[in-house]
Amino acid sequence: MDMIRQEDINHIRSNVDIIDIISSYIPLTPKGRNYFGVCPFHDDHKPSMSVSKEKQIYTCFSCGATGNVFKFVMDYENVSFPESVNIVAQKAGLNFHVKTLADKPLIHQELFDIYDLCAKVYQNNINTTAGREAKEYLKSREISEEAIKEFGIGLATTKRDIITKLLKSKNFQEKDMLCSGIVIQDDKGLRDIYYNRIMFPIWDTSGKVVGFSGRVYHGETNYKYINTRETEIFKKGDLLYNYHRAKEYARKNNTVIIMEGQLDVIRAYSVGIKNVIGTMGTAITKKHALLIKRLARDVILCFDGDQAGAKATMSCIKELQEVNIMPKIVRLENNMDPDEYIKKYGKEGFQAKLDNPMNVMDFKLSYYKKDKDFNNTVDVGNYVRDMMVELSAIDDEILRELTLKKISEESKLDLEFLRNQLQEETKKTQQVEKKEEVNVIVKPEVKQTKYEKAQLYLVYYMLKSKEVIAMYDKKITYMPTEKYRFLAREINHFYETYHFINEADFITYISDNKKMMEVIGEVLSLHLKENYTMEEIEDYIRTIRDYNIKVETERLKKLMREETDSMKKAEIASRIVALKVRGE
Ligand code: UTP
Ligand code: MN
Repeated sequence: MDMIRQEDINHIRSNVDIIDIISSYIPLTPKGRNYFGVCPFHDDHKPSMSVSKEKQIYTCFSCGATGNVFKFVMDYENVSFPESVNIVAQKAGLNFHVKTLADKPLIHQELFDIYDLCAKVYQNNINTTAGREAKEYLKSREISEEAIKEFGIGLATTKRDIITKLLKSKNFQEKDMLCSGIVIQDDKGLRDIYYNRIMFPIWDTSGKVVGFSGRVYHGETNYKYINTRETEIFKKGDLLYNYHRAKEYARKNNTVIIMEGQLDVIRAYSVGIKNVIGTMGTAITKKHALLIKRLARDVILCFDGDQAGAKATMSCIKELQEVNIMPKIVRLENNMDPDEYIKKYGKEGFQAKLDNPMNVMDFKLSYYKKDKDFNNTVDVGNYVRDMMVELSAIDDEILRELTLKKISEESKLDLEFLRNQLQEETKKTQQVEKKEEVNVIVKPEVKQTKYEKAQLYLVYYMLKSKEVIAMYDKKITYMPTEKYRFLAREINHFYETYHFINEADFITYISDNKKMMEVIGEVLSLHLKENYTMEEIEDYIRTIRDYNIKVETERLKKLMREETDSMKKAEIASRIVALKVRGE
């Protein structure tokens, strides 16, 4: 791994403003001494993240996320520390770049290498004579040469040992080959899993190939697509197709379009609608929803036009609403999928659909209305009930009222009656929410003892001042609580090495220590007053010392009670007396 010198990092950090960098990702509003924004690291819509210009750090009141500019970029962009340094330097126009290729997580390096190699082989295959038929198939589907290149589309030929042999010749270990899912073991020994399929590489959010989706292109089979099995680095619930390419376009337009199939995505991207990602036919997970939230404020769902697509849209809306995204919905007529629609109506036709999406409630109205007979009172009743539940879950009062009017017209039920019904339903939802909220609040309120508080406060000011560090060094031999002890030790160490101290640079220093980052989050989110008096510091130190003496005295007393030798007993007694003197 390339080591970046701490001095270089500190130099970059002190030459950028965290406010500029964070506001290139999320809107920040100044308020008092700090800036506030919606924390991107948990689902929220309230501005719970505060960013301090003075300290150059951010802290979230709600989820406890904390860090400096590098930590923010690492977590927001899902990149490694050196990559985050590069990104920050580049954003600030500083001339600094460290090679990060060698910096990939070593544990899975073999898997990344295997997929890289496979991607190259598959792409090469499709351009040989063995790939003629596959090329013709792609041509018949109007996939251009350009798209084939851009999306790395390749071919697994009919031979079943190409990859296996190649990996063996490159000295990959059998266990890694099997672990990758590209090689399988059956009664014929080790063999390639993919043969006779058109291969679509799948990338993680940073653009590394982590698996494949292979499509049949002639003959009959039950499995249209075969995906690489899940591994440590390929989890369908964590990945969205084309995420790494769509990122910049989505952020620029503040809109991201979500589709189901990779061919839908490739089609849209090829005609120039580039802020598009794919779910690859799986249900959206919470992780997906949070990834989507990082891309853009406006989300448009454009799934297949059939009933399965409508159903997938419903469950996707639910997951997105959980993270406070209200998506817009585009439905395509005649059961078409986006690929077919764009082929038929062109970019303009599709763009017209995107420009006129449905709101969530209108989509739900149409969804629940489908297959219902409005002459049948039971059907109408079910429809109204379904919609009441949906309406009770949204905050937008205007949208609620407008939708309520529509329901009233359709069902011929009195508007006032519906309003009352909705109120009842809302009460029910709120009761459930309240219960959940109580559970959340109770947890972090752990009772803090006086000496714990003293340690926390002392560490807080150690991060600000060498004067406090010096006092700690001189007067405290031992912090009773392990996590604070380790933190204080690191602060001390940082100061001894670099001869200065501040929160933001210290965070860089410990940023790969997850546990310690949690503790520092706890400390920094205290938001204590910036100035302290020496009396206060002395008071914290005294509290800690008293505590230590008390604990040690208890220990010695117990020892003395158990001791039978009277000489030794006397010796312990004198140690207790000495402690008492120290305490006074
Ligand atoms: P679709 O059946 O809509 O595929 O499934 P598609 O995108 O229209 O594909 P073409 O146009 O027929 O080639 C949507 C997505 O679900 C996943 C794939 O990621 C696909 O793009 N899928 C589908 C599978 O993983 N396995 C399957 O057997 C089918
Ligand atoms: Mn489809």
